[in-house]
Amino acid sequence: MAIQRTLSIIKPDAVSKNCIGKIISRFEDNGLSVVASRFHKLSTCEAESFYSVHKERSFFRDLINFMISGPVFIQVLEGENAVQINRNIMGDTDPKKAKKGTIRADFADSIDANAVHGSDSEENAKNEIAFFFSEMEIHSHKL
Ligand code: CMP
Repeated sequence: MAIQRTLSIIKPDAVSKNCIGKIISRFEDNGLSVVASRFHKLSTCEAESFYSVHKERSFFRDLINFMISGPVFIQVLEGENAVQINRNIMGDTDPKKAKKGTIRADFADSIDANAVHGSDSEENAKNEIAFFFSEMEIHSHKL
């Protein structure tokens, strides 16, 4: 399986609960490496643009209001099969349905405040990474 990159966002709920380190440990313990990261407070415009695929959904306004409610911690993760591995580690979008031991089962409170976002395909990962990071800010470090 090829080395891939994926975008991960630790959302305002998990940041405010002081869970950044615990969540990053889950990625590292499952073979993924953080190769870029940034703390950021999303503007309304940035959040709407990032989540534009959902703009017709009934939850769009709540999603945007939640994502701008506090700082987020954004990372590029790298590793074998990174997109799917990250999705497995995150668990179901709805924490009530997420398997025990996944990030959302352990740290999330609701489908809105669900602790993390992760790219859902390799193509979307490329677009989402480019939304936040230039190639110069991404540093592969595995020997
Ligand atoms: P995320 O992976 O960041 O992608 C879109 C977000 O919309 C999702 O996580 C949820 O936090 C939020 N959301 C709220 N309601 C729904 C829903 N019914 N289906 C999917 N996503 C939802």
